[in-house]
Amino acid sequence: MSPFQITRTLPEDATDAALRADVLDGLTSIPKTLPPKWFYDAHGSDLFERITALPEYYPTRAEREILKDRAGDIAAATGARTLVELGSGSSEKTRYLIDALTSLRGYVPVDVSESALVQAGQALVAERPDLDVHALIADFTGALALPDTPGPRLVAFLGGTIGNLLPAERATFLASVRALLSPGDALLLGTDLVKDERVLVRAYDDAAGVTAAFNKNVLAVINRELGADFEPEAFDHVALWNAEREWIEMRLRARTAQTVKVPALDLAVDFAAGEELRTEVSAKFREDGVRAELAAAGMELTHWWTDRERRFALSLAAAR
Ligand code: AVJ
Repeated sequence: MSPFQITRTLPEDATDAALRADVLDGLTSIPKTLPPKWFYDAHGSDLFERITALPEYYPTRAEREILKDRAGDIAAATGARTLVELGSGSSEKTRYLIDALTSLRGYVPVDVSESALVQAGQALVAERPDLDVHALIADFTGALALPDTPGPRLVAFLGGTIGNLLPAERATFLASVRALLSPGDALLLGTDLVKDERVLVRAYDDAAGVTAAFNKNVLAVINRELGADFEPEAFDHVALWNAEREWIEMRLRARTAQTVKVPALDLAVDFAAGEELRTEVSAKFREDGVRAELAAAGMELTHWWTDRERRFALSLAAAR
């Protein structure tokens, strides 16, 4: 077997159909919404990489600190021979895990971006020819068929991306992850934590305006893919803390009344002056809430690790 394989479970046209359905649905809803997954074209992914280096955006550094300090504990607790990484992207922080997992034989990165998978996979295989890398082009929110790699398996979902799912979506997602686990397997989950509102809002409204550009990029994606005529300058970036739901919301606020055409959907969308379009929720968690959501999906929280400032947590969970 070659040390680097790539399997596509996502039809080439699935992304286009999903974008159309999401845009039609979201722009005709009240209030208007768009799912955050459409931020990440090549430019959006590049902007996200820049966000992770901003002084205000602490989650990436906090999670890296935990991984660096706890990789040995994670290896000892799991004894994983296969690491499955959902939404692997550039797989950069995962290196701490890969290097610490001394029994590791297989790495299965799962991402919708083929280019990210090929880049990260090839770099890893060059350095670690002992490792079988089997990349999966797939949407991790759907049902996954994993390659037949040796257990125990560790399924990692890092970055706090679970916070971008709404509570009902989270429950469905965690149940589908649970279905991947056999006895002895584990889930490693990264979650950003509830903290001072000012720290949270600054992380999503940085002084350099990178997050504002990232937020507006979803409009450029819809313009390019669906022929729409959004004017990104006609919208303001908004980041706010929803204290009741304990999540950050990003919105785009129309500066003036305007009509946007989306020819591919045969749609015209009216915005009132000041009307807001919600583009992302980023939920923040507490230990009890994470434990309860895992339990509801048939998993048991066995370890809870935070960075020194308790800004971010990594949870390890086992199938019950
Ligand atoms: C994809 C979960 C890491 O919600 O913090 C960053 C995306 N959005 N700035 C997050 C994001 C705005 C991010 N994660």
